[in-house]
Amino acid sequence: ATASVYEAEDATVFHGTVDSDHLGFTGTGFVNSANESGAYVEFAVDRPAAGAATLALRYSNGTDAARAAALGVNGTAAPAPDFGPTADWDTWAVARLPVTLRAGRNLIRVTATTAGGLPDLDSLTV
Ligand code: GCU
Repeated sequence: ATASVYEAEDATVFHGTVDSDHLGFTGTGFVNSANESGAYVEFAVDRPAAGAATLALRYSNGTDAARAAALGVNGTAAPAPDFGPTADWDTWAVARLPVTLRAGRNLIRVTATTAGGLPDLDSLTV
């Protein structure tokens, strides 16, 4: 199936801003979450059929430590991303996560679980 790209700047953001002060993002910017636990970005992903899928989250993390996060799929915990460091905030990596999606709308929520907040999030490809 053809992959769909969902830009983070089009998603629902709880405690964060859409920024464009780094290089290499796609679309018009990226989401810089607040540096706090509980900040989240939620994507709405429409699927024609239920089944297994891989979420590819494009992010940058210019710190020297991973930024931990919880992944929720339609309110249920899914494999958690480990947003390891990238070379700097202009360098983007992709975290891939296996999930099961339902037919119709799926709400994919990425929530910071430590005080550092999320990495900068550019997009979700499914
Ligand atoms: C820097 C960087 C931001 C990033 C932030 C963070 O300020 O410029 O893009 O979001 O660090 O620590 O989360």
